[in-house]
Amino acid sequence: MALAVAPWAGAGPLRLTPLGALWLILASAFLLALLLHTAAPGLSHPVLHDLIRYGKTRGAGRRPAFLEVFDVPKRWFCHFYIISVVWNGFLLLCLIQALFLGTPFPVWLQELLRKIGASQVQGNELALSAFLVLVFMWLHSIRRLIECLFISVFSKSVIHLLHYCFGICYYIIIGLTVLSQVPIDGKNVYVGKSLLMQARWFHILGMLMYIWSSIHQHRCHVILANMRKDDSGKVIHSNYRVPFGDWFEYVSGPNYFAELMIYVSLAVTFGFYNFTWWLVVSYVLFSQALSAVLSHKFYLSKFDSYPKHRKAYVPFLF
Ligand SMILES: NC(=O)c1ccc[n+]([C@@H]2O[C@H](COP(=O)([O-])OP(=O)(O)OC[C@H]3O[C@@H](n4cnc5c(N)ncnc54)[C@H](OP(=O)(O)O)[C@@H]3O)[C@@H](O)[C@H]2O)c1
Repeated sequence: MALAVAPWAGAGPLRLTPLGALWLILASAFLLALLLHTAAPGLSHPVLHDLIRYGKTRGAGRRPAFLEVFDVPKRWFCHFYIISVVWNGFLLLCLIQALFLGTPFPVWLQELLRKIGASQVQGNELALSAFLVLVFMWLHSIRRLIECLFISVFSKSVIHLLHYCFGICYYIIIGLTVLSQVPIDGKNVYVGKSLLMQARWFHILGMLMYIWSSIHQHRCHVILANMRKDDSGKVIHSNYRVPFGDWFEYVSGPNYFAELMIYVSLAVTFGFYNFTWWLVVSYVLFSQALSAVLSHKFYLSKFDSYPKHRKAYVPFLF
């Protein structure tokens, strides 16, 4: 008698790998935090408060003194991108060598990928998609690193130590998630032209969406930074002001919305049907929604003249 197998546990497109399960748990945790915050905004514990709020939304309210031990400067965001540029650059190099020279991934990396669910991936039709997604992810990290080091003006705001550790792990796991989508046996050698034969319309669409969202996110980060600089570019304060221009005309957290769009563009580049990547997108959807909602509330509570038509996260909707 054939046993019924849950669609998400088998080898089909809905297979839930250990890595997929991790993204599902993270997405659920942020969805829960978002729902709790929306349904019962008054219900908050200082520890939970510190874990979900950072930067301007952390507030200057009274907190038990011991919690300050866990505060880490928010300007350390740049560490996430340094790790990402180096680690994802290394993974990209491994992938390029595997695709173009047939060099297998290092044994430890193969074992790691097998453990997180890559071993059951069959076929090689995802090679070009995974290659492009890893390139886009790497370029995204380089841009964010440049923004953190040379454009953004950080105040003395802080993030929780756990949040910092999570950020470091995040950029390591995201690269592994991409790499786990290609076969790891090193038998698939492509030489330029044959890899290009995999090119489809969704690769172009994904790339255009990625460029469009990245441009808007960059503009929003520049707008935020310029509010703390004079015309000559000199930093003159670290206060919070009401931002105007670009996607700020529609939402309070356009950089969070652009982040979501960037991850959606990568789902498009994967050909729309990559289940594991959609789980990553759901994590980004809910984590960035929480930040956008908190940002929106911060602006409404601090500025009486805050534009009434502005939504929190998604233009015209929410
Ligand atoms: N993929 C992920 O899981 C993930 C997670 C977190 C963040 N991100 C991305 O990382 C980027 C930065 O996130 P974030 O939460 O740091 O964004 P943010 O709160 O908007 O801060 C960005 C920069 O602007 C400053 N700033 C914020 N609001 C300001 C205002 N009203 N007036 C003047 N300056 C202001 C901040 O200074 P302060 O030092 O005072 O805060 C910081 O330097 C976003 O694009 C986000 O999407 C991604």
